[in-house]
Amino acid sequence: MSASEPFPLISELKSLAAEFTRDLDQVTDLADLEERRVAFLGRKGRLAQIMSQLPSLDPAMRPEAGKVANEVKGELGALFDERQAQLMGAEAGKELADFDPSLPGREPWLGATHPVTLVTEEICAIFENLGYEIVTGPEVENDFHNFEALNMPPGHPARDMQDTLYVTDSILLRTHTSPLQIRTMLRREPPVAAIAPGKVYRRDSDLTHTPMFNQVEGLLVDTHVTMADLRGTLTHFVQLVFGPETRVRFRPSFFPFTEPSAEVDISCVMCGGTGFVDGAMCRVCKQTGWVEILGCGMVDPEVFRSVGYDSEKYTGFAFGLGVERVAMLKYGIGDLRMFFENDIRFIQQFT
Ligand code: DAH
Repeated sequence: MSASEPFPLISELKSLAAEFTRDLDQVTDLADLEERRVAFLGRKGRLAQIMSQLPSLDPAMRPEAGKVANEVKGELGALFDERQAQLMGAEAGKELADFDPSLPGREPWLGATHPVTLVTEEICAIFENLGYEIVTGPEVENDFHNFEALNMPPGHPARDMQDTLYVTDSILLRTHTSPLQIRTMLRREPPVAAIAPGKVYRRDSDLTHTPMFNQVEGLLVDTHVTMADLRGTLTHFVQLVFGPETRVRFRPSFFPFTEPSAEVDISCVMCGGTGFVDGAMCRVCKQTGWVEILGCGMVDPEVFRSVGYDSEKYTGFAFGLGVERVAMLKYGIGDLRMFFENDIRFIQQFT
């Protein structure tokens, strides 16, 4: 205590202020600074301790001592704020100094439209331009729409053509998009022009079959629809998807819901129908020059009967195709499993 100070408390406050000021000059980081703050300005810190003595002072001395104490408190608080701002600026600056803006950034992994979606959309757009309406329906179907109304009554051997996944005896995962023919015709009177994309399910899994895949179904019903309309429509369609040089061949086939029925081949997209690529046998068409692309036919009168259409008045054609198959041919994809692995490197190639 110095003799020049009237009150010991005031001199204590002043030396505390001097010490705090000195200490602040020495702190080098924010953690250090916080320690000082607690020691000096904290609730149990040194300033608080000095101030706790105020009530026991001689009342005559109290106002002067209280005034100085409050001044010191304000002063130290300001010193602290100032030093804190300095140190925060310094630390931010250090972070900035460590930051190298010339480093290459991390490239975001952008998604892309899956080729199955691309092809589905392309097919639908082609038929929408021809005036077809897009229809969809449930993947969990009943026996009536999936089989019976399509001329496959219970026990019909054609049911064996498709390995069905049953939910109950009469509820199943649809094995094809053909039930959309039935649903659409039950909903409206001819003329009908509908295109129906969707997932289908079969109990089938190997290198070239997956238990789920995608189909697109087409249906046109009106008076005077002929096989020539079918041929013209499908030729137009494949030439838009695979190029104007693509040739089309109809091979007689069988489907319970069409009569007559056909399978459609297109000239091989790989070898252009020559059977050879660079002198070697074409692996896509196995040297035949043709690849199968879809099934089709004229709607069977039995199907019209099951939806209440007059088969004397109306005729129609239908077709169904596998989207993965079209995508494989269109983009030269060799392995069906690629579609389901969701490897972004595969998918990104189709942007
Ligand atoms: N639903 C048949 C299948 O999944 C494909 C099909 C063939 C659809 C002929 C048709 C058609 O509409 O007329 O194998």
